[in-house]
Amino acid sequence: MAEETKFEPKIVAFLCNWCTYAGADLAGTGRNQYQANVRVIKLPCTGGIDPLFLIKAFERGADGILVSGCHPGDCHYNSGNYHARRRWNVFRPLLEFCGINPERIQFSWISAAEGGKWVETINGVVDTVRALGPFEGYQKINTIGPDASSESSQT
Ligand code: FES
Repeated sequence: MAEETKFEPKIVAFLCNWCTYAGADLAGTGRNQYQANVRVIKLPCTGGIDPLFLIKAFERGADGILVSGCHPGDCHYNSGNYHARRRWNVFRPLLEFCGINPERIQFSWISAAEGGKWVETINGVVDTVRALGPFEGYQKINTIGPDASSESSQT
């Protein structure tokens, strides 16, 4: 009997360099344990995160995404996090419209001093996405792409 493999979600975290990345680093230096499902992409500010980055992450195999940056009022570029929040409020209903469960993308504010909050947040994201199961929205699109057509042309 084949052994059942447990689903382990792939989480991509887009983090602001100044706050959340430093908070995640603090968690690491403090030897706080968190689930190893996350791949971090460090950016200067959440204000520069284009929603297409998130869609591209799903296309490349992510099952869930975290976007996290400085608390309101603490953005090092003055108002980038407010722009990110406004963009998120517009983007979220579009996700639902496209058939992507918005629970797969979470948004948070985590400062450089909040290593514990980073651990709680990323563990929460991993648990939520694990319960949702793998994101398969792009699998069909990708299987009818060039690879699938070249496979059918060989038969
Ligand atoms: Fe951190 Fe703008 S610098 S969100």
